[in-house]
Amino acid sequence: MTDTAHAQDCYPVGGDWTDARVDAAAYERLYAAAARDPDTFWLDQAKRLDWTSPPTVAGDWSFDADDFRITWFADGTLNVAANCLDRHLAERGDTVAIIWEPDDPADAPRTFTYRELHAEVCRFANVLTAQGVAKGDRVTIYLPMIPEAAFALLACARLGAIHSVVFGGFSPDAIAGRIEDCGSTLVITADEGRRGGKRIPLKANVDAAAAKAPGLAKVIVVKSTGGDVTMTPRDVWYHDEAAKVSAACPAEPMAAEDPLFILYTSGSTGKPKGVLHTSAGYLLWASYTHELAFDYRPGNVFWCAADIGWVTGHTYVLYGPLANGATTLMYEGLPNWPDASRLWQIVDRHRVHTLFTAPTALRALMKEGDAFVTATDRSSLKLLGSVGEPINPEAWRWYYEVAGDARCPIIDTWWQTETGGAMIAPIPGATALKPGSATRPFPGVFPRLVDDKGTTLDGAATGNLVITQSWPGQMRTVWGDHDRFVQTYFTTYPGTYFTGDGCRRDADGYYWITGRVDDVINVSGHRMGTAEVESALVAHAAVAEAAVVGMPHDIKGQGIYAYVTLNSGVATTDDLRAELVTWVRQEIGPIATPDKLQFAPALPKTRSGKIMRRILRKIAEGDTASLGDTSTLADPAVVEDLVANRVG
Ligand code: WTA
Repeated sequence: MTDTAHAQDCYPVGGDWTDARVDAAAYERLYAAAARDPDTFWLDQAKRLDWTSPPTVAGDWSFDADDFRITWFADGTLNVAANCLDRHLAERGDTVAIIWEPDDPADAPRTFTYRELHAEVCRFANVLTAQGVAKGDRVTIYLPMIPEAAFALLACARLGAIHSVVFGGFSPDAIAGRIEDCGSTLVITADEGRRGGKRIPLKANVDAAAAKAPGLAKVIVVKSTGGDVTMTPRDVWYHDEAAKVSAACPAEPMAAEDPLFILYTSGSTGKPKGVLHTSAGYLLWASYTHELAFDYRPGNVFWCAADIGWVTGHTYVLYGPLANGATTLMYEGLPNWPDASRLWQIVDRHRVHTLFTAPTALRALMKEGDAFVTATDRSSLKLLGSVGEPINPEAWRWYYEVAGDARCPIIDTWWQTETGGAMIAPIPGATALKPGSATRPFPGVFPRLVDDKGTTLDGAATGNLVITQSWPGQMRTVWGDHDRFVQTYFTTYPGTYFTGDGCRRDADGYYWITGRVDDVINVSGHRMGTAEVESALVAHAAVAEAAVVGMPHDIKGQGIYAYVTLNSGVATTDDLRAELVTWVRQEIGPIATPDKLQFAPALPKTRSGKIMRRILRKIAEGDTASLGDTSTLADPAVVEDLVANRVG
């Protein structure tokens, strides 16, 4: 597509935003102010938080490997939970903080005012203290989308304990790995989760994980479904312990740079890494971006449909909205259960103002037809958000025209676990929209495009996306492996933060993310490292070698295509194929399930033994006519076999 084609596609800001806080001129002013004098800009922004001791310094950072450091507001102290709860009590104690919508629409929703949430969090924090949790301890949380998940995260924040949330879809092995990596001795889980009418055996998964995580000493179990679980001497019921403690608990004053949480995410190599975020900078970024991207005003019901197990759930279900005193909706279930109108029914039921979801969900709903949407009212909707992967223009238009009745801007937010919150996104009332573009960077975000050699590309160009200056919400380290942090993000294009994404910038300065340029696959908006899936495959006794690549997928965005070489003498049967697919599911979790698995007598390698993934990607995509130069392969005949036996 040419830039002219995109320009024809330019939408106005969408809807009536005459009273927008930030209009186009204000955006330019803010952007220039953050560039000109970042210290003043960020110390001013810091006033949006409630400090026990306000900071006198803003960012102190260097991306040079020799002099590497990142701190923000280093001499300030605050407590994140107090910012999300206590400071709202005087003015908004009786405002609803959380609306909880259960999986089954026949069950009653629950609401918690700020005062009620404050009491629940204090109680949870007292239970944690009674179980021996103290400031700096790591607490692993493996919970479904129930209100207790919000209580648990905020309770950790209140005590200064570092939470590490593990998505409820991960396997016992994955849980064990994360428990061991961060050295947590306590896990908070529930008897079972509920999604789309099905039960997920969370407690049983933790029991299985415990066998592989010797450091695990204590499990707090929330009774959610009432399903049968086996309690061991390690386990306590949350409700038993909560009955023994008070609902008053002081908030621990934390240094700005004290850790708030660890969240594991996949990279191009090795095991998932523990992305570490600290207290003040992260919370500031959550609050700032929630307000900017969604023009948040008191009374708006804000619904981010992400699971708390991902960064989107951390920042936009919990921390951003609560820091801003918002009413946040938490949904336990799936977008398409009991049927494809569920999202819109929830919008109507709770008069949702902003809906923030992922392209994969939209594509799945789109395919079911418009009637599921048009049968609902949706007149409360004013804004629609998108996150997690590039939104294809077709899904964008459907979201805009059908779901939003052509009156709600689409806020396509580009960001990453590492960035803490949105970085490139339209601001309602300020930014004209282009379907498929995350548009322009927020004030304080300085993107650059570079070619593979690191040369800066100016104007309209396509290249690798780097960020040249630190921002408060930036991750600070990889838990337990600071070298890996510096190596992964700051050495590819020295002096800049490398995002791992490819990107095009058009003549209007709009950014179009093209997807990962490393060995990370984006499956339904969730990151999966090809190396992780490969190591799960080779852990199977029948497998000698495996290579995994992404392939286009209608609903998921990208699917997983695995090439597997078996040990000699092992027969390539359909049963074994099915067994290997199940094996990966069990090793990592359902999100890692290979969509296609091809038995390969050998993999295409260079003479130095490097697997040529470029060729494997092309074959997986079905683009076998343009495999490019295969002359550097050790054995070009390997490719013919792969093409002939491609799984279509
Ligand atoms: C991709 C999720 C295009 C991107 C918040 C990034 C996107 C990775 C968008 C991070 C978007 C996320 N447009 N691509 N709006 N949002 N991505 O860490 O490749 O789970 O690097 O964070 O998702 O995924 P993560």
